Amino acid sequence: MPTLEQDKEDKTELRDRIASSQIWRSIFRHGFDDTQRNRVLQMTAGFLLHTRPVKVWTHGIRLRYTWGAGGLTFLMFVVACITGVVLMFYYRPVPEYAYADMKYLKFDIPFGMFMRNMHRWSAHAMVLLVLVHMLRVFLTGSYKKPREFNWVIGVCLLTLTLLLSFTGYLLPWDQLSIWAVTVGTNMARATPFLGHEGPFSEFLPFISPRYDARSLLLGGTIVAQGTLLRFYVLHCIVLPIFAIWFVMVHFYRIRKDGGISGPNKALEPPLVARPVPAGQIAPESSPPKASGALPENQPGQENQSARKSEGESE
Ligand code: HEM
Repeated sequence: MPTLEQDKEDKTELRDRIASSQIWRSIFRHGFDDTQRNRVLQMTAGFLLHTRPVKVWTHGIRLRYTWGAGGLTFLMFVVACITGVVLMFYYRPVPEYAYADMKYLKFDIPFGMFMRNMHRWSAHAMVLLVLVHMLRVFLTGSYKKPREFNWVIGVCLLTLTLLLSFTGYLLPWDQLSIWAVTVGTNMARATPFLGHEGPFSEFLPFISPRYDARSLLLGGTIVAQGTLLRFYVLHCIVLPIFAIWFVMVHFYRIRKDGGISGPNKALEPPLVARPVPAGQIAPESSPPKASGALPENQPGQENQSARKSEGESE
């Protein structure tokens, strides 16, 4: 009869043998030692983890600073995408069926009403949160150097969010949506150059009520079958693809701009206090000198050296 002690030893031995086997080591390349080096190795070697930064500024994860608004906007976008795909299984973008499909989905499909409401509310929340996020970025001055380009990407994301909202509004094909889109697209008549009632349209002889910005949106001169199909394709394919692409660039830029901007970097130890030659890593034994701390406290400027070092080491 093996004793408890023996049993424990056998298990430990078996675990060690598995962990040191070639198969295990070919999948899990680094051990579980909780050291700085091992943490970095695990982050850079992992398939999913390598997309995450190895180090982040402490303020970057503080809710008080970011309000979590950007992350929540992204979460709402993901929820809207997933529930949207579910809705697509039941919805046909044809005037004869669209309204009935919505009713069927709402009242006859199990969890249909839940799915539809999840889609609606996540979309509403996304519009609200993107504005809150933009306000936060503005208030913290995070649009300044070196993040100007990411602000521009953000403006594109805001436009895409509003367009997704607008195109989705027509899809229930009820009185509210048809007339809302009629009013909304009527504004396109006044587009400079491209709207038949807009300024300077007389310079383009081919612009007429049949061929202008509004008719391009409507697929005709009134909200009808062509409009529903156009809005459906824009809402379910074109705009989401653009939004996913811009979100990816947005997140990539955050990393390349030295992580999330910070309040007062002079109060925090800088990531790198003195310039590190390309390809070299600062020895751990030489802590950053206070005199090398970045003097400017302007959000957006303080990360310059960190950004440089990140760029150099990548
Ligand atoms: C779909 C819309 C958007 C998503 C999902 C999104 C997501 C994010 C996330 C997750 C961050 C990290 C920091 C944080 O959570 O605050 C961030 C940062 C940033 N966003 Fe957005 N964003 C969106 C729209 C916008 C808009 C409309 C603007 C401005 C016009 C903008 C400008 C920025 C800038 C400049 C940063 C860097 C801020 C910093 O370093 O402190 N974003 N965004």
